[in-house]
Amino acid sequence: MSNPSLLILAGDGIGPEVMGQVRRIIDWFGDKRDLKIDVSEDLVGGAAYDVHGTPLHDDTMAKAQEVDAVLLGAVGGPKYDVLDFSVKPERGLLRLRKEMDLYANLRPAQCFDALADFSSLKRDVVAGLDIMIVRELTSGIYFGEPRGIITEGNERVGINTQRYTESEIARVARSAFELARRRGNKVCSMEKANVMESGILWREVVQKVHDEEYPDVELSHMYADAGAMQLCRWPKQFDVIVTDNLFGDLLSDAAAMLTGSLGMLPSASLGAPMANGRPKAMYEPVHGSAPDIAGQNKANPIACILSFAMALRYSFDQGAEADRLEAAVAKVLEDGVRTADLLGEEGVEPVTTVGMGDAVLAA
Ligand code: NAI
Ligand code: MG
Repeated sequence: MSNPSLLILAGDGIGPEVMGQVRRIIDWFGDKRDLKIDVSEDLVGGAAYDVHGTPLHDDTMAKAQEVDAVLLGAVGGPKYDVLDFSVKPERGLLRLRKEMDLYANLRPAQCFDALADFSSLKRDVVAGLDIMIVRELTSGIYFGEPRGIITEGNERVGINTQRYTESEIARVARSAFELARRRGNKVCSMEKANVMESGILWREVVQKVHDEEYPDVELSHMYADAGAMQLCRWPKQFDVIVTDNLFGDLLSDAAAMLTGSLGMLPSASLGAPMANGRPKAMYEPVHGSAPDIAGQNKANPIACILSFAMALRYSFDQGAEADRLEAAVAKVLEDGVRTADLLGEEGVEPVTTVGMGDAVLAA
């Protein structure tokens, strides 16, 4: 079998700094675990604009379509704020998501024991938390027609439409069930079937996909507002949550904050299965290019490292190696190693970006 292929797009600001640590980890897996990955690198965002006058070159787009996974750092920065909307760094990212048709956005909420006191919730509630929110990303109320602001009589009316086809619901449900099989084998689907027809259809289709294709996975349904309450009350009851674009936007941001710092949060966006059965995939930290600390060797590389761990698990079928990497991160945090964004305790000296990479490699 050929090696898995990974396209690295480090991007702007702290992107290349945090990605540098992932490169070292990829090399480590090649040397010590005989896990060879065919890595190629290219430009995205402002870095691509500087060279090509566009935030994503067509050749880069074509490469992204061919590889098993894309790993992206971050894009953007004050230098590019003056650019026309059509060539802004973020457009590079949007083009990747759109042309790869990445309809399932995965946002894990994971709480490392050593950081449980960072959370605004009680330690018991969050310590060891490991849940995954799957948000439908390419349809729903952010895209549905009709939309706009119209005038009716003597006042204006703002209109957006929640619209989901059966196939759009079925494909994101499949993504969630596939993930659940690699995790805790449990899916909770959230909608508002009590007040929205789109929610009634959502519930029916998710149930049908379950019964016909994934009867081995435990499925439950919850109204999204009740889900929001349960997420704050006892998040450990969940494994995978699947929900629409709007509810997923809110629930994934809320769940992320159960666990603390932006420098810790990975994500993935998945599309349709490719010929090899694995989904099209792009992995990236949730954070941006952090211009305020860029170039200072201060950024926390863990979000990017954990994004690579997700690629190992969900694109390369290397769940055991992903566990190994996540365990190394947990160990480093147990040992009290902290980048500046994770400081809280008195008298702890922060490590640099490279220092955190050193510690993870050593662990
Ligand atoms: P940001 O995520 O870049 O930074 C927010 C705050 O968190 C800053 O104080 C930053 O120093 C800190 N931070 C972020 N990541 C960190 C890390 N790994 N380690 C330590 N501290 C970290 O968001 P902001 O400031 O709103 O946006 C900055 C630029 O990034 C903008 O140009 C924005 O458009 C872009 N952006 C890009 C994203 C992407 O590439 N996916 C996502 C969000 C913003
Ligand atoms: Mg949001």
